[in-house]
Amino acid sequence: MRIILAPMEGLADVHLRRLITAQGGFDWVVSEFIRVLDHTYPDKVFYSICPELLQGGHTASGTPVRVQLLGNHIEAMASNARRAVELGSHGLDINFGCPSKTVNRHRGGAVLLKEPETLYEVVRAVRDALPKSVVVSAKMRLGFDDTALMLDNAAAIEAAGADELTVHARTRLQGYAPPAHWEELGRIREHIRIPLIANGDIWSVDDYHRCVAAAGTADIMLGRGAVRLPTLARQIRANQPMETPWSSIGILLNSFWQEISVALTPKDCVGRVKQWVNYLRQIHPEAEALWRAIREERSAQNVNALLAAIVQ
Ligand SMILES: Cc1cc2nc3c(=O)[nH]c(=O)nc-3n(C[C@H](O)[C@H](O)[C@H](O)COP(=O)(O)O)c2cc1C
Repeated sequence: MRIILAPMEGLADVHLRRLITAQGGFDWVVSEFIRVLDHTYPDKVFYSICPELLQGGHTASGTPVRVQLLGNHIEAMASNARRAVELGSHGLDINFGCPSKTVNRHRGGAVLLKEPETLYEVVRAVRDALPKSVVVSAKMRLGFDDTALMLDNAAAIEAAGADELTVHARTRLQGYAPPAHWEELGRIREHIRIPLIANGDIWSVDDYHRCVAAAGTADIMLGRGAVRLPTLARQIRANQPMETPWSSIGILLNSFWQEISVALTPKDCVGRVKQWVNYLRQIHPEAEALWRAIREERSAQNVNALLAAIVQ
């Protein structure tokens, strides 16, 4: 079993990655994507998206971080992949799943699922740019509008030399609407030999079991499930749901607040905490009350007081 913390642009930044991986259970984490155009980025771009590169490519709790690139420019994908790895990325991930209209309009992310040969070229270029010992992985959805090219896409990624494939079990058209189609992952599993990492809508230990049974792989990637329940990976490893007292979530929230307070503007800090509490309230009843109190709040001082009150 391998458990990976998913890339989540604008949500799982360096701060949340540190807190969630510190709860234990994760083998590695994938960074938010770096959108590659036609040139090699200066180092500061890699450091700003993935500050863990400044500390050996690990989160503060020691979990390896893998940089994710998004784009279709063969030479630039190769050169940026090389640079990311030189700077300390543990492997290199390629994003073929992003549903953003802007990104797709520029032929990046999920739109490339219409072109298996482009997937092949991009993966091949990145593979050839890196030493054999460096893991190259790709992340895709089931397709763009439908699953017609799903198996061709997976096969193209494997044939190009990827070491692992993560699949978010929805098409681009399906967005994030439940359910995730884990049974489609089972079809991919039978079609490729490289490890398959199943992703999408794993919110509990029970979901884990149902997902692996359908997908035929024990390797999973957790996204929003780990944001609303940071101990989810640990629970899955222990094969046991566990109580998560609100006070322990309160400690995490306060730790998050302290950390972002020195890194972000007060306005951004308030926004980030609201974003996380909005996820937490899906399963923690106490978070609903906190959400009602901070939903309209703009003052960082007041948010600070509300968070401090949880742990008093
Ligand atoms: C806010 C947000 C940002 C995301 N950003 C990325 C990203 O940068 N790269 C990527 O490959 N997937 C991204 N995803 C997709 C997730 O990695 C994951 O595939 C998806 O959320 C389904 O998994 P889950 O149900 O466990 O959350 C993002 C998802 C969310 C909700």
